[in-house]
Amino acid sequence: MSNKLLFKDIDEPGLASIDVYKRRGGYAMAEQALAMARESIVTSLKDSGLRGRGGAGFPTGLKASFIPQGKMDKYLVCNADESEPGTFKDRELIQKNPHSLIEGMIIAAYAVGANKAFIFIRGEYVQQADILERAIEEAKAAGYLGPNVLGRGVELDMWVHRGAGAYICGEETGLLDALEGRRGNPRLKPPFPANQGLYQGPTLINNVETLTAIKYILEVGAEAYAAMGVEKSSGTKLISVSGNVKRPGNYEIEMGMTGRDIIYGLAGGIEDDREVLLWFPGGSSSPVLTKDDLDLPYDYESMAGAGTMLGSGAIIVADDSNSVVDIAVKTASFYKHESCGKCTPCREGTNWTTKMLKRIQSGDATPMDLDVIESVCSQIMGNCLCVLGDAMAMPVSSMVKKFRPEFETHIEAARAAREAALLAELS
Ligand code: NAI
Repeated sequence: MSNKLLFKDIDEPGLASIDVYKRRGGYAMAEQALAMARESIVTSLKDSGLRGRGGAGFPTGLKASFIPQGKMDKYLVCNADESEPGTFKDRELIQKNPHSLIEGMIIAAYAVGANKAFIFIRGEYVQQADILERAIEEAKAAGYLGPNVLGRGVELDMWVHRGAGAYICGEETGLLDALEGRRGNPRLKPPFPANQGLYQGPTLINNVETLTAIKYILEVGAEAYAAMGVEKSSGTKLISVSGNVKRPGNYEIEMGMTGRDIIYGLAGGIEDDREVLLWFPGGSSSPVLTKDDLDLPYDYESMAGAGTMLGSGAIIVADDSNSVVDIAVKTASFYKHESCGKCTPCREGTNWTTKMLKRIQSGDATPMDLDVIESVCSQIMGNCLCVLGDAMAMPVSSMVKKFRPEFETHIEAARAAREAALLAELS
């Protein structure tokens, strides 16, 4: 079996149209699934070991099993608000193979008994939203969506909802608020969306890659999928590699490949053959790794064991021509800008940290500020309404911890330069 599933046919010309998609076997799994017992699909998902590909890695089958059974309004929501810096895999999937997402959603909706499905897509993905809307129309015309899907008495409507550019709307409960027409602010969890989600109804909410993978799991079988990758991180993962690499882009890998094989193999190594300074293994919210960590297997457990996370699968590589201080400022500024302001640790903490890092940049800081940054970050972590605050605190504190000498050298050099400039002004 090829180790490519979701990207197997990705470069097939015209794949975004239903005709080409069907010629490649498309919608056969939806037809098959609708003839299966709903519970057996959930069992297959559990057996496959699939874990949420948006970033958290929560077991998909388990989440689906939390949706209450019985007749009531239930919803399926696809999180296509792909906004984590460095993450652009869902964009390629939607753009080139939108029907595989729709097919995965038909199967997931049937499995949990949802008859209304929404795809919440980030506002900036204008072209991709248009492609999805076209694909939904094609699927409707072919009888895969609508009041009586394939004549099997199953009702499923699907809509694309465009976001307006806020990172926080990728947080699942913020997304649900935005979908309901309110300001996208996170809700307190529990209750989790599985019990009380969209319009207070049970809601299965998953990322684009997760829902797409469902179709391929049924195609190859749960057992074969579970045999791919490594024990607790089964299957394949789409990764986005960016930064100072020779061949940035999206790749599909089997879980467990080493960081070195990804960065030096798939992505062709570092530009100008320089050294790796640091890399984010799971988007800009993941604690950074260094060149000493390149031989770690890329899977959920190994990343957690190294004090970081696989997250959304976005590997951002910075070579040794970069300043770690600049990277920290850029990272913190992003989260400060995107904080919704609802909870204090995130609103104030991201602001203070950004200000302190900028002081380091401008030569107004002392090494003691590094201790203050670490203390502020540790007080943010675990104390916010959602993970946005942690998403800044984790990478920033990891940079300060792992590169303290570089920060101290920068503080001294920037201070000396600032003093020299002041003296020059006075003389
Ligand atoms: P989480 O761990 O709180 O939840 C993961 C999923 O499991 C959610 O759908 C949640 O509802 C469900 N869940 C957890 N415990 C449950 C329970 N007891 N009962 C029912 N359902 C339960 O993580 P969260 O906040 O959803 O996601 C955080 C991750 O998102 C980060 O680690 C980051 O990597 C990623 N992320 C991805 C982005 C992207 O663009 N792809 C953007 C920002 C963050």
